[in-house]
Amino acid sequence: MMRIFTKTFTEPHTQQRSLAHHRWIARANPDVRIPQVVHIHPTAIDFEHLDGHHGTPDDLLTLADLLGHQHTTAHTHDLHAARLNTPHTSADLTSHDHTNNDVTIADFADSRRERLHRLLATGTVPAPLLTPGAIDDWLEQAATMPAAFYKDANPRNFLITDTTVAVIDFDSLTLAPFGYDLAKIIVTIAMTAGPLPEDTIRRTVAAYNRHPEQRGLPGCSWREFAAWCEFHHILTTPHHGTNGYRYSWHAIRPTWTTDILRNSDKESAP
Ligand SMILES: Nc1ncnc2c1ncn2[C@@H]1O[C@H](COP(=O)(O)OP(=O)(O)OP(=O)(O)O)[C@@H](O)[C@H]1O
Ligand SMILES: [Mg+2]
Repeated sequence: MMRIFTKTFTEPHTQQRSLAHHRWIARANPDVRIPQVVHIHPTAIDFEHLDGHHGTPDDLLTLADLLGHQHTTAHTHDLHAARLNTPHTSADLTSHDHTNNDVTIADFADSRRERLHRLLATGTVPAPLLTPGAIDDWLEQAATMPAAFYKDANPRNFLITDTTVAVIDFDSLTLAPFGYDLAKIIVTIAMTAGPLPEDTIRRTVAAYNRHPEQRGLPGCSWREFAAWCEFHHILTTPHHGTNGYRYSWHAIRPTWTTDILRNSDKESAP
């Protein structure tokens, strides 16, 4: 008998969305390990139970390598046609019956602009480096960047063993620039485990960028990386104190991320 992990949903539409995202990841990243969907209940999904531990600082290079591979593969096969600030519908060309298995992925800006502004307006985000105007500038710049995706790369959404890394949790999926979900895993692992050595961050970004660069794609610049870390700082602050988030990014971020965002026309390496 296959072991089961049952995930429950509060609303039918969030469950339907999760199933659609699961279908899309299976298609876009056919060589990445994800749990099989074993049974669908009205407000729950029985997933195949997978073994493994959550992401730690020691796993960062492995996770960056996986994310770089996932994003580059998805871009090459599907997302090259996507505009980041427009929802993207991906047709299922392998479907031979009459069910519609098309999946629509939310765009980058509209799904987070309001939340970013609202959180900044509350004054509860400690020492944000981006103003509301800077947020809008970055969202506007993102419109013309090559499309990858965000799938909430927090350390609890990976199950890692000596031989494989499985990707779990299909609740959130949006278009995002290259490097955005990489910034998520770095920020949330640091918020969980504490400050990371600067060299670890540098090598992690390099391990990720190797994948787009091998395909002639630009990868994530240091300035973009610093900005996306600030997006995650703002968006993850409400969860500080839960989910194992013991540290706030503003207290542990590398000083070069601050310098690079304050000094807008310099591209100084870390
Ligand atoms: N298929 C699975 N096999 C084994 N364990 C799983 C599986 N799916 C989820 N889990 C475990 O349950 C945890 C929570 O699952 P999931 O991430 O889907 O829900 P969540 O509501 O987003 O929780 P969190 O906020 O912690 O990420 C995972 O971090 C993992 O430890
Ligand atoms: Mg999760």
